[in-house]
Amino acid sequence: MSNFHNLLINRRSTRRFKDELLKPEETEMILSAALLSPTSKNSHSWQFIVVDDKEMLEKLSRSKEHGSKFVANCALAVVVLGNPIVSDVWVEDASIASIAMQLQAEDIGIGSCWVQIRERQYNDHISAEDHIRDLLDIPMPYEILSIIAFGKKEKERTPNDTDALLWENVHIAEFKS
Ligand SMILES: Cc1cc2nc3c(=O)[nH]c(=O)nc-3n(C[C@H](O)[C@H](O)[C@H](O)COP(=O)(O)O)c2cc1C
Repeated sequence: MSNFHNLLINRRSTRRFKDELLKPEETEMILSAALLSPTSKNSHSWQFIVVDDKEMLEKLSRSKEHGSKFVANCALAVVVLGNPIVSDVWVEDASIASIAMQLQAEDIGIGSCWVQIRERQYNDHISAEDHIRDLLDIPMPYEILSIIAFGKKEKERTPNDTDALLWENVHIAEFKS
């Protein structure tokens, strides 16, 4: 990737992965991106659980009714947790770490997709978070923001269209509707 702007243009969510493992150094780079990400008051309020076991990926892929099935076919899933006792803005810390991992992955040619867990349901009675807490033995007070699924892209997607950027959402000096 030549520069950061091109990286942003080319990054698209990948939900179809090749049946191919990541190299250990690729996994390390992705996780180091998370650990390099900034946190409010330098609190490092996040924790990350790395999953590559096929059976567990399959179980995680059933965390919610829509938008998580592809986790079953990814090479690696990182479950992103935050500690609300350590930081009142753990959601922001964990979100920044999540996107840092996605951009790092893109930079080394690996596709990824965010799977939202916080505020999502496994079924009518059980939250997606409680489902995963149970599967991965996650203690309180940790909360689960996301699962980021990674893998080699089955095929490249069309880059973002810079002519379609929502410049109308940018306001100069004051909010103008
Ligand atoms: C906070 C957040 C939550 C998301 N949750 C999901 C999800 O649960 N499942 C999914 O397939 N994609 C999810 N996505 C990916 C978005 O659908 C995707 O980024 C968006 O449609 C734009 O497409 P692009 O990433 O290809 O540019 C999420 C993205 C963000 C930023």
